[in-house]
Amino acid sequence: MKEDQRPLHLHNPQRNKLSITKLFTHTTAYVIIVLLSYTLGYLSHSSPPQQQQQQLLQLSQLNPPSVFQLANLPSQLDNFRVTTHCSNSPLPPHLVFPTVLDRVFNGSSPYTNFPPPYLRSFLKQKRIKGWGSDGAVFENLIKRVKPRVIIEVGTFLGASALHMVNLTRKIGLQTQILCLDDFRGWPGFRDRFKDINTINGDVLLLQQFMQNVVYFNATRSVLPVPFSTASGLQKLCEWGITADLIEIDAGHDFISAWGDINRAYRILRPGGVIFGHDYFTAADNRGVRRAVNLFAQINNLKIKTDGQHWVIDTALAIQI
Ligand SMILES: C[S@@+](CC[C@H](N)C(=O)[O-])C[C@H]1O[C@@H](n2cnc3c(N)ncnc32)[C@H](O)[C@@H]1O
Ligand SMILES: *[C@@H]1O[C@H](CO)[C@@H](O)[C@H](O)[C@H]1NC(C)=O
Ligand SMILES: *[C@@H]1O[C@H](CO)[C@@H](O)[C@H](O)[C@H]1NC(C)=O
Ligand SMILES: *[C@@H]1O[C@H](CO)[C@@H](O)[C@H](O)[C@H]1NC(C)=O
Repeated sequence: MKEDQRPLHLHNPQRNKLSITKLFTHTTAYVIIVLLSYTLGYLSHSSPPQQQQQQLLQLSQLNPPSVFQLANLPSQLDNFRVTTHCSNSPLPPHLVFPTVLDRVFNGSSPYTNFPPPYLRSFLKQKRIKGWGSDGAVFENLIKRVKPRVIIEVGTFLGASALHMVNLTRKIGLQTQILCLDDFRGWPGFRDRFKDINTINGDVLLLQQFMQNVVYFNATRSVLPVPFSTASGLQKLCEWGITADLIEIDAGHDFISAWGDINRAYRILRPGGVIFGHDYFTAADNRGVRRAVNLFAQINNLKIKTDGQHWVIDTALAIQI
């Protein structure tokens, strides 16, 4: 997604004043603590490891560390982990769609009698727009992984998901694709997508996506999971759903990308591939790239790039 579509970071001059005051108190505290640590060090000659760690932490609070330094502190690593409960037994691929139908849609397909008459005049027969959604990376990975289950994190109107349907069909796979998206877009997206209608403030993105799936005869291959990526990925993990291929293309700020990648990695089949869009965009000071790099570093994984995408193939994990 292009950066100019994203809301700008609000600049607040009050904040600057605050940080100057903070900096001042931090500097004062720094001097005091350095003197204290010096005295302590002098008195104790060699500090026990616990004390060393504490000093390190105190110092790191005064000189904000880079995220890499922070991640390398053993005591801090746990804060970077997603630790909620997951199922111990992965479901076989043929139970993935039935499970989502059951858990999310109370047992009946969301495509039954879709679109209902009251929606028809609000939807286009087909309305697709994606970003890098038909890059060569999709074909390269689908040919290599031959996925039975794909999870897409960030779907919008379904351009990349429907492209993947085409590719899997072409090589005779019966792949099931789960599309995680809250189908809200982002604040202001309708400035550029005025033709996506709303009813009483409710934008019809899920409905237009479903209409696109119906148009391309893909209702047996594609199911929406219409929740936030965080709660959606967490539930899939609880239900024992795993995927051979996972695409990350939802929020492009560091915190969103970081959460999505870490949660998605937990439901990646061992040896599977996780990849995502916009490794090179400047959004959130290259938030996606910082998240991917840190994730790979912590987990000893190797990053490759393919067009605008980053790719982590866990079959190629660095052996140490
Ligand atoms: C760039 S678009 C996806 C484009 C799609 N992969 C394609 O190429 O056709 C990003 C999507 O992520 C969704 N999204 C962003 N943050 C999300 C979140 N926290 N939970 C669920 N969906 C989110 C937005 O609704 C939007 O549809
Ligand atoms: C779910 O489906 C059952 C019938 O299969 C129905 O009795 C029940 O009311 C439905 N629940 C909801 C929340 O729609
Ligand atoms: C899928 O392939 C068909 C036939 O080649 C093409 O008409 C269609 O536009 C493709 N769909 C997408 C979403 O790329
Ligand atoms: C969908 O299936 C119908 C009926 O089989 C066919 O007429 C139509 O061309 C198909 N559409 C696409 C986009 O493949």
